[in-house]
Amino acid sequence: MIVTLDGPAGAGKSSAARALASRLGWCHLDTGAMYRAVALVAVERGMPLDDAERLVALAESLAIEFQGERVLVDGRDVSGEIRTERVTQATRPVADSPPVREAMKRIQRRLAAGLDLVTEGRDQGSVVFPLAELKVYLTASPEERARRRQREEQARGVAMSVNDVLQAQARRDEGDRNRPVGAMRPADDAVILETDGLSAAEVVDRLVRLVEERRR
Ligand code: C5P
Repeated sequence: MIVTLDGPAGAGKSSAARALASRLGWCHLDTGAMYRAVALVAVERGMPLDDAERLVALAESLAIEFQGERVLVDGRDVSGEIRTERVTQATRPVADSPPVREAMKRIQRRLAAGLDLVTEGRDQGSVVFPLAELKVYLTASPEERARRRQREEQARGVAMSVNDVLQAQARRDEGDRNRPVGAMRPADDAVILETDGLSAAEVVDRLVRLVEERRR
């Protein structure tokens, strides 16, 4: 069975997806980390970020693996590096490229084959897994998402004002919603889960209940 979890940055997708997969004993696919990994290696190799052909070849050549919270690329742990601001920015043109998205769709479907999987991203329910048994669009108000992001950054030792986070978040949302292919949107048959005022544990409980309903 496939469960897709899409939604904007800061909605709590990653922790919810990881916790849900762990509760169910399923695999977890973080597709944002996959785009980030391609961007990281492209930057390291000095590749122009508008060269779609080379980016596609790169995406297809990399072995991206997930070990718990760690992300490995060709056996190297890149979990920290893919979350830096430099890589976040480089990920944008990579994720905007239609040929790269097409390649990622193929790779993600290949990775999912035969698995019980919770996959998270922006387009997992709308584009990559249109036949997924359960599609959830996780969201929260911009203020709530910014507060969560600020706390995460603080935990990593980066101090940012809520206002700065809000502005950066608005720019990312706009980019995510307006990309020509794979734009962030709920699939037509997605369940919308608004997480304002819910604890992380409550979100996971709701997701587990939704999975149980679909399995019946
Ligand atoms: O979720 P995360 O912030 O790690 O995503 C990194 C980047 O990859 C974002 O720019 C996001 O728009 C993009 N992305 C995407 N499609 C996905 C997952 C992430 O375009 N399925």
